[in-house]
Amino acid sequence: MLNAEHSTWQSTQHTTEHPQRPSACACTGGPHGAPAAEVGAASASGAEKQVRPGARSRAEAAAEGEGDGAGQAWEPKIVAFLCNWCSYAGADLAGTSRIQYPPNVRVIRVPCSGRVDPLLILKCLQRGADGVLVSGCHPGDCHYIAGNYLARRKFALLADLLDFFGIEKGRVHFSWVSAAEGEKFADVVKRVTESVKALGKPTRLVKERQR
Ligand code: FES
Repeated sequence: MLNAEHSTWQSTQHTTEHPQRPSACACTGGPHGAPAAEVGAASASGAEKQVRPGARSRAEAAAEGEGDGAGQAWEPKIVAFLCNWCSYAGADLAGTSRIQYPPNVRVIRVPCSGRVDPLLILKCLQRGADGVLVSGCHPGDCHYIAGNYLARRKFALLADLLDFFGIEKGRVHFSWVSAAEGEKFADVVKRVTESVKALGKPTRLVKERQR
């Protein structure tokens, strides 16, 4: 069973680049402290810009987005699917509160954590992400009533599938973060980043050309 708070299977780069940035950021329009991949989702105003069928290609883009960089120490790339109503707002709060957290996450805003198909997670891992975080509203707070419960069930099943594929469970994390928990969001990102970093680069599911 998954732990309700933060199951074991569970941007600050932007902040670093704009340490003095006031509450509104003209360069991104996204949640403050958000990295480049998040910006695409965040700056997408209006429902048509939110992730729906296009989530797949956006996830792929986020996974493939940035290389390690020649001569730089390896840093994991983590795709974070954040529900629009809670966790995304929590990430925004972390940014506006200037809470520091690792710049390893590439945020994708989704309407609800229940929207995240396990295949999206596998696709992220296949296309170069080192880890995936899915974060939604606390139990009972889902804007769509039961989306987060559905997500929890799907990810519990995915955990078994990961085992079958030989992918470490520590690469996929699930958490509840509300809009008021900026600090918790930063903690979750730190924990997930450390967990994925400890595992190193993935060797399973990654396409040859991306190793
Ligand atoms: Fe946030 Fe469903 S709306 S998890």
